Amino acid sequence: MEEFGARLLPGPPHLLQSRKRETHIMADKIVLAYSGGLDTSCILKILQQQGYDVVAFVADVGQEEDYDLVRERAVQTGASEVIVENLQEELVRDFIFPAVAGNAVYENRYLLGTALARPLIARRQVEVALDVGATHLSHGSTGKGNDQVRFELAYAALAPQLKIIAPWKDPEFLERFKGRQDLIRFAKENEIPIEATAEKPYSIDANLMHTSFESGILEDPLVAPHADMFRRTRSPKDAPETPTRLEIHFKDATPVKVKNLDDGSEHSEPLALFRYLNKVGGENGIGRIDIVENRFVGIKSRGVYETPGGTILHMALRDLEGIAMDREVLRLRDSLAPKFAQLIYNGYWYSPEMDFLRAAFAQSEKIIDGCVSIELYKGNTTIMGRHSPSSLYNQELSSMDVEGGYNQADAAGFIKINSMRLAAHKRILRVTGET
Ligand code: ARG
Repeated sequence: MEEFGARLLPGPPHLLQSRKRETHIMADKIVLAYSGGLDTSCILKILQQQGYDVVAFVADVGQEEDYDLVRERAVQTGASEVIVENLQEELVRDFIFPAVAGNAVYENRYLLGTALARPLIARRQVEVALDVGATHLSHGSTGKGNDQVRFELAYAALAPQLKIIAPWKDPEFLERFKGRQDLIRFAKENEIPIEATAEKPYSIDANLMHTSFESGILEDPLVAPHADMFRRTRSPKDAPETPTRLEIHFKDATPVKVKNLDDGSEHSEPLALFRYLNKVGGENGIGRIDIVENRFVGIKSRGVYETPGGTILHMALRDLEGIAMDREVLRLRDSLAPKFAQLIYNGYWYSPEMDFLRAAFAQSEKIIDGCVSIELYKGNTTIMGRHSPSSLYNQELSSMDVEGGYNQADAAGFIKINSMRLAAHKRILRVTGET
């Protein structure tokens, strides 16, 4: 029978009959999403001890690691192969830009930095697994979070034939490793190279879109984060006294150029452009939030996020839509945007409903062209002006000074017809004695 869903308990190595009639043990190959941190290092070792041939897959999504060191550690810990891949450009082009274009904001505030990188990492991990002839996939995400769901739904959507080993959901593993101290002890016993063993104050996840902080001292929702926690944004209090003025150009709701109006510098490649926005956004203290959000698994969780470039793009594009997007298209898109955000958050990037939504959104994004000038100043983004070659704005029509082809007398009938229903309602209230 075909096994589906996550296989929690790792099995023994396969016994394979070789064609040459001698019997020999051949280890199952497993591709582990590896970061070089304590958790995935211990998992690597355990998988190896269980008889797996472990391929460590490291995705560079802009988290700024020393990848030579990560590679070296994986080998020292027992990986038979280490594959490091730079996925930064794809993250920006195929995930961040489409999310911004579709106004993806989870629970009105979170711009989905972590959630956007997971389907990309999972996709490449699956491709690597198929390439190296692996039968299994593994990741180090805990059983309480969203990331496990995102990884495993993506694995299932892309390669359901691959089996999944998720140690943080394996009762035996949980029994053995009750906390960080157990992992540290295991690492020492097994000569796994790990960094400082001090208790980490937060769980951090970083990629090009954001840096996220959770758990540790942040678990008390009343306690403010330490000022020195932040990695990529200055406090608005320490940001420069003079604003940074930018012009951001879009084509089909996708950023194509950013120009600094103060020094004239320009960036138009997706990755360079986004990195630049992160830099100037960070300097000006843009994009910090501190929220309590609802995880897919039903747990409320406190998170602090820094999303400088993503925040700037969101603000600028929403403004351009004001001038360039049809009213009803905008309303319909915005009625679906929370669903789009939820699908991203819950890990349904590869799903029929996502394909359906993205096809509709692509239609709404056509000729959302033009540019927005924006000022960054002490944590704020202020729109200074906008221009669109596909503008639907008619200056004469909206003018208070000229008629512009609009006969104000026509408005009387418009209001009369629209009032009829309201008047009927009021009459009924009177008749029934309700107020
Ligand atoms: N709560 C955010 C999300 O679910 C961030 C998760 C960060 N992940 C982490 N491993 N620290 O998207």
